[in-house]
Amino acid sequence: MRITKTVEEARSDLRELRAGGRSVGLVPTMGALHDGHISLVRAARAHCDEVAVSIFVNPTQFGPNEDFTRYPRTWDADCALLKSEQVDLLFAPSSEEMYPRGSSTFIEVADMSDRLDGASRPGHFRGVATVVAKLFQIIEPDKAFFGQKDAAQVAVLRKMVRDLNFNLELVVCPIVREPDGLALSSRNRYLSTEERKQALVLSRALRHVEEESERGITDSSRLIRSAGEVLAQEPSVRIDYCRIVDPDTLEDLADTSSGALAAVAAFVGSTRIIDNLLLPPAETR
Ligand code: PAF
Repeated sequence: MRITKTVEEARSDLRELRAGGRSVGLVPTMGALHDGHISLVRAARAHCDEVAVSIFVNPTQFGPNEDFTRYPRTWDADCALLKSEQVDLLFAPSSEEMYPRGSSTFIEVADMSDRLDGASRPGHFRGVATVVAKLFQIIEPDKAFFGQKDAAQVAVLRKMVRDLNFNLELVVCPIVREPDGLALSSRNRYLSTEERKQALVLSRALRHVEEESERGITDSSRLIRSAGEVLAQEPSVRIDYCRIVDPDTLEDLADTSSGALAAVAAFVGSTRIIDNLLLPPAETR
């Protein structure tokens, strides 16, 4: 596995990897890798000839009171994992390399950037869109792989790719869960044993929405109410949002008949976690 820390080196490595028309898949990450990331790496391996992974804890997507400085950094374990997955290129730039002094250009996906997580985390999606656009410019992947777990991020990036004519395909891979239902996240390692148990209420609430939908209920307010009843079983979990939206625009949907995204975010202790469920169109439930 080649490891590069500069844009110039990454570009020159990629020229070699791409020789003879080989395709490149990119998995952008912030490190602290878990099986969810590995599922993206394996999907990239299945779809592309060469697999590039980036590890960069992107300062511009964290708010001033968020966890940028204490975000888990597990470099040695991440490298070992990526080597064992036979990743071809690991791009791990410094903040100065990604944002040289004087950088002042940002990408804002208007409207969508302030929905769901964007509403609770002002500026978050501006940081995500900017860094992902930069990674696309540096790596020039044929396909880029993201997890459905960050459903709002996926919607924002899809729109950015369309609006800015990026010549690549976004591939979205399913949420990977622990056997008890908890969606994998690098932030799960902040949870105490007790909080981890409380956090299960998110996937339980979404499972309840799925069951109600399978019973033919399509009225969003009713589905949200019943998710709220499950969430209330853990009074110490503070709900940030619980909504049913259009998965492409992130706008609220009154009815789920044509398909919908049920998304929830909550604070368990001081850790903010998210989870979601894609509801297919009613006739296929
Ligand atoms: O999903 C993430 O880990 C990050 O938001 C991403 C896409 C790597 C951008 O920093």
